[in-house]
Amino acid sequence: MRRKEGNLLRKLKVGIKEKKSDYEIIIGENIIKKLKDYIEQVYKGKKVFLLSDQNVMSLYGEKITEILTDAHYDYTTFIIPPGEGSKNFDFLLKGYDLLLKEGFGRNNLLLALGGGVVGDLAGFLAATFMRGIAFVQIPTSLLAQVDSSIGGKTAVNHPLGKNLIGAFYQPELVLIDTYFLKTLDRRELVNGLAEIIKYGFIADRGLLTYLEENREAILNYDTEALGDIIYTSCKIKAKVVEEDEKEKGKRAILNFGHTIGHALEAVTDYEKYHHGEAVAVGMAAAAEISRKLSLISKEDRDYLEKMIGDYGLPVTFQYGENSTEVYERLFYDKKAKDGQLRWVLLKEPGEAYIEEELSKDIIMEVLEGLR
Ligand code: GLY
Repeated sequence: MRRKEGNLLRKLKVGIKEKKSDYEIIIGENIIKKLKDYIEQVYKGKKVFLLSDQNVMSLYGEKITEILTDAHYDYTTFIIPPGEGSKNFDFLLKGYDLLLKEGFGRNNLLLALGGGVVGDLAGFLAATFMRGIAFVQIPTSLLAQVDSSIGGKTAVNHPLGKNLIGAFYQPELVLIDTYFLKTLDRRELVNGLAEIIKYGFIADRGLLTYLEENREAILNYDTEALGDIIYTSCKIKAKVVEEDEKEKGKRAILNFGHTIGHALEAVTDYEKYHHGEAVAVGMAAAAEISRKLSLISKEDRDYLEKMIGDYGLPVTFQYGENSTEVYERLFYDKKAKDGQLRWVLLKEPGEAYIEEELSKDIIMEVLEGLR
């Protein structure tokens, strides 16, 4: 057990070669109250642009605007409708319009308060407005806290596919407040837990043990337990991103379960599975491929399936998907290099590697087994 006592403040640094200085990830409960102190570490100005969505603002808008007002910030809010549908060119343009209308310049700061959609859109807006303005990520969903807010992937969707237009653009600071997690519904919490389980399987057996031993606390929204697993997850991701920011190689390891997961989301029109659920099925498939290749034992595969199942996530197709259709969809993935897929497979629970050569037969057999 790595459980620590008390209301801890945890800090991590992310060092990206092309960025002059490291940036910090700060994790704690109710750190939002000290927003001004944290912002002042990276920004001395008074003009800030807050991008958020209607759900987050209806829950926390009053609190946030009070914090910004008390801190004497001259702030402009840009509130988008919740959901993936807002991560598009229309809202990007609306964002540029508002930034220009309100007189924002290159030396001002953008705050992204919300889940993955808000973070990705805000990040791309920041990356491109005036060739790049500083931004701070304040992720409010578990999924955004352990994945999308870290590592600088920013994007909007194109009618032909998700996240096709984007940039690698790192924030100045990431503030992860576990206080926001209390209002997530269970399905959303579990959605983020799938990514945390992923980190355990690709890089940290100790995290898997922690997830087993503290399941009840985690599923009961215990903020200390959540703080622990968020910290460990961010640490793993930060290390990978530091080594390979632009995903030329090792960063692809973070896509464990995502090759089949993305295809599943696409064939069900992004409506049925939550991202973490599709990734959970994808991880079960990747573990089964690893077993078929005698990389891991049947017990290891069962261990992964049990972990996923115990957290209420699926390990098989849930909506009668057609295996051939899923197979074909695999090759639409923007991560397929020249039509060549990169599979993330397991050497053991806690260690993954990237494999490019897999026969169609083995993939199809595994997909058939998921039905
Ligand atoms: N979500 C995978 C990555 O950031 O690379």
